[in-house]
Amino acid sequence: MKKAFCILFLAIAATSCSVDPEIKPIVAADGIKEIIPEGWPQPFYRFTDNPITTDKFILGRALFYEPLFSLDNTTSCSSCHQQFAAFSQNGHQFSHGINGLLGKRNAPALQNLTWNTSLMHDGGVNNMEVFPPAPMTNPVEMGETLDHVVQKITASYKYKDLFRRAYGDDTVTTQRMFKAIAQFMGTMYSYNSKYDKVKQGSESFTASEQNGYSVFVQKCVSCHKEPLFTDYQFRNNGLAVNTNLNDSGRAHITQNPADLYKFKTPSLRNIEVSGPYMHDGRYMTLNNCLDHYTSSVVSGPTLDPLLNAGISLDAQEKSDIIAFLKTLTDHQFLSDKRYSESNQ
Ligand code: HEC
Ligand code: HEC
Repeated sequence: MKKAFCILFLAIAATSCSVDPEIKPIVAADGIKEIIPEGWPQPFYRFTDNPITTDKFILGRALFYEPLFSLDNTTSCSSCHQQFAAFSQNGHQFSHGINGLLGKRNAPALQNLTWNTSLMHDGGVNNMEVFPPAPMTNPVEMGETLDHVVQKITASYKYKDLFRRAYGDDTVTTQRMFKAIAQFMGTMYSYNSKYDKVKQGSESFTASEQNGYSVFVQKCVSCHKEPLFTDYQFRNNGLAVNTNLNDSGRAHITQNPADLYKFKTPSLRNIEVSGPYMHDGRYMTLNNCLDHYTSSVVSGPTLDPLLNAGISLDAQEKSDIIAFLKTLTDHQFLSDKRYSESNQ
């Protein structure tokens, strides 16, 4: 009796699987294309070998929000990269993966990725199209194998249509998945902040923002270079080494002692919403970051020479810099429905 019931239940479950009532209508992604805002340098990653189409973007978006990418089907890329936090992980010092396991680095914001000459805090990956296996196979992030993810995606009814639209047939391969994800991530452009509008002449800074900008240009811009607010170099900005983690930074990749404790200069776009800060998320606020530069820069053989004497800032300058940094928040980007989960 019990067995018969079970079989009946399985039969119902199987039928409901094959019609999958959960599928939501696909929402359009109008206007997705490669963008190089006026005055910006040429991007590093070009879509020449991965031509952008709306359907590939939509497939990439679905995969980015797909928990099947993780061993226990709970964790998607978006678990650690949340749109309202400029695709960083809001409030988490270290990223949380499957089974609540903790990584040892802070999840960075994802924006304007095509300008990055390398990815990760230590630049360990240099091509956006081969990035996804890093989190997918990392035991404390998604803990999966690529073969198993391909199997799960192949078995999912929803993806048959998405792959067919994107690639003409429903064959799932890692290369197809990763190219589609690269289209989604690579077209997350943030260039509509107040700062950008001031540069275009359609808005103006308040006195405090203007003063903050002047101080920033004097004291910060040599590393946080406009218009992307990073020079994409690896530098040691004088953080005391966390002896529990002992993260050697760039040297982890190059094995060169001259690279010890150097990390990729992060962009400061959307910095207001992408805390906690630094590679290990040690600082909760922008004030903490400024206090670091004025008072806790640790010297050492690889400290960036620009910071030998720290950076002097008085209280007024600190609050003006923060006012300026907040003009880098791009509200349009943070709420752009084309990048949202609800959109698939
Ligand atoms: C468990 C949390 C977690 C998950 C899940 C996750 N990431 Fe990340 N992501 C991170 C962390 C932490 C880093 C920084 C890694 C480092 O520097 O070692 C990172 C870095 C990145 C970067 C590099 C950004 C830069 O500026 O260098 C990209 C791109 C990225 N992730 C995309 C993805 C994609 C795509 C997925 C899904 C396949 C994904 N992430 C899943 C936590 C996560
Ligand atoms: C010598 C180069 C250099 C200078 C000068 C510099 N920074 Fe940085 N900054 C860095 C590097 C490198 C990091 C990343 C360190 C890490 O991840 O551990 C960083 C990180 C930050 C962060 C955290 C970003 C994040 O996403 O976690 C903020 C905020 C910041 N800097 C603001 C400033 C401000 C404001 C100034 C000027 C007062 C300044 N920086 C001057 C190199 C520099």
